[in-house]
Amino acid sequence: MYRYIINGGKKLYGESYVSGSKNASLPILAACIISGKTTKLYNVPDIEDVRITLEILKDLGCKVKKEKNKIIINSKYMTETTIPENLMRKLRSSVIIAGAIIARFKKAQFSYPGGCDIGSRPINLHLENFKKIGIKINENTRYIECSCDKIESKNIELDFPSVGATENLILASVLGTQEVVIKNSAMEPEIVDLAQFLNRMGANVYGAGTNVIKIKGVTTLKDTSYKIMPDRIEAGTLLIAGAITGGMVKINSIIPEHISPVLNKLEEVGCEIKISKNAVYLNANQKLKAVNIKTMPYPGFPTDLQPLFSTLLTICEGTSIISENIFENRFKFMQEIQRMGAQIAIEGKTLIIKGVKRLHSADLESTDLRGGAAMVLAGLCAKGTTRVSNLKYLIRGYENLDKKLRDLGADIIREEGE
Ligand code: UD1
Repeated sequence: MYRYIINGGKKLYGESYVSGSKNASLPILAACIISGKTTKLYNVPDIEDVRITLEILKDLGCKVKKEKNKIIINSKYMTETTIPENLMRKLRSSVIIAGAIIARFKKAQFSYPGGCDIGSRPINLHLENFKKIGIKINENTRYIECSCDKIESKNIELDFPSVGATENLILASVLGTQEVVIKNSAMEPEIVDLAQFLNRMGANVYGAGTNVIKIKGVTTLKDTSYKIMPDRIEAGTLLIAGAITGGMVKINSIIPEHISPVLNKLEEVGCEIKISKNAVYLNANQKLKAVNIKTMPYPGFPTDLQPLFSTLLTICEGTSIISENIFENRFKFMQEIQRMGAQIAIEGKTLIIKGVKRLHSADLESTDLRGGAAMVLAGLCAKGTTRVSNLKYLIRGYENLDKKLRDLGADIIREEGE
């Protein structure tokens, strides 16, 4: 396993770019199953979560070919409907592959998914709403078995706008003659990307990006090619890296409106932000000050950037209050940042940060994907050498993060061994 060695204290300066979105790639890769045809996908990031998803697709019988800038998936000869347990445990989003398998074969079998330890992360919303559209569920201790004769026309309403449940229900409802309406659906840009992709294949998905999505079943889908949207969480990560080092950076291949709440908060702490069509420029040459943050479903402040922004706030003047409203266990990483001199207190879902002048270097152990990235950012701003180990989480979701930071002038190397 690798670790990062960071010699911190250098202001980041220059230009970098973001890769394709992890959270859009995963449901779109799953969706390739439904067509039974060939799909060419561009801008899929080369990250561990994508590799695991491709392993699952291959295990199910899809042919997967990786070329320089594209992945070609042929699902014509797929017959297997059980998601392998060992791979299912590695990846939470594997659960949405079930929706795609059900759409095509009217049955699927899978175990409970794994993923980062940031909360209990149940799948009750997926299963309850599967039942409402006519899918029978048989849960035993090891497997969940789903089957149906057909998907039924239904108006369903989610108790919470879960991203994964919305995606799973869209996927399951693509084929057939029914009409499924999902109220209180998640509105994340990744859902819009999934719907655009499905519609490009010939599906009828309306309203993605709003809180009511309508899926009218179709009988067949066709071959297609699609370019995955840019990763908004990586965009936020690189901009916050610029801010935490007091730097001046331009991050390209961004859709700025996807990260509006983050840009607003970066301005509120005192960064200068300039937005162009596909890029954001950030200048953090002023003293930065505390702000309060509440994570919310889109279009609110994204929970995935909370660890990174909270880390920035550890060196902002004043007291910041962060309310984490999506995942109940998402402050764990802060125990590591605390070892670098951060002054914090945690009360349930609230994190209170009293800004300090600087952090000092330390040897840190990554706890989860975004928490690990937050530790890298802390290392960039701390004077001295910081080592971040246990990178198995970080490589799940960031493509070449160290290289992109080096492009911005950071002194960071990836080294083998813990
Ligand atoms: C997706 C993203 C993840 C992001 C999250 C919230 C992917 C691969 N991952 O995760 O990066 O942090 O959205 O924006 O796209 N919940 C239930 N029951 C369910 C489903 C969810 O109680 O059946 C709860 C969860 O425990 C959590 C909240 O709903 O507290 C949000 O979860 P959800 O939106 O489903 O997140 P994911 O799809 O897992």
